[in-house]
Amino acid sequence: MRITANRKAHFNAAHRLYRADWSDEKNSEIFGKCSNPNFHGHNYDLIVGVTGEIDPETGYLIDLKILKDIIKVEVEDYMDHKNLNLEVPEFKNLNPTVENIAVIIYNRVKAALDNRFELTITLYETPRNYVIYKGE
Ligand code: NI
Repeated sequence: MRITANRKAHFNAAHRLYRADWSDEKNSEIFGKCSNPNFHGHNYDLIVGVTGEIDPETGYLIDLKILKDIIKVEVEDYMDHKNLNLEVPEFKNLNPTVENIAVIIYNRVKAALDNRFELTITLYETPRNYVIYKGE
């Protein structure tokens, strides 16, 4: 029996979307307010979904305490209250869009998770805008 367990998490972070090889005007045209040179914050809501088989011995898919701890280390401790452009190495040369943040979260959680599980990352940048990434 395949089932998905989800855990919600939350972090706040600042970012700026821009390309250094573009003018301020072009960055502003393409990225709008998210290109403000002085950065700005978002409240990110995260849902980490883990899919696999129920263990017949325990009745668990995954001990959710393990998932909670992975999210704390790989996402919350790593990104919460950070300036993503300046303090998170993955974004040194990668625009911290909600798409790219979801991919980085996927990669970090996947590396820490038992590889028998499939992983789905749902990341909200605003209450109405969110992306889903499954590593495909
Ligand atoms: Ni923004």
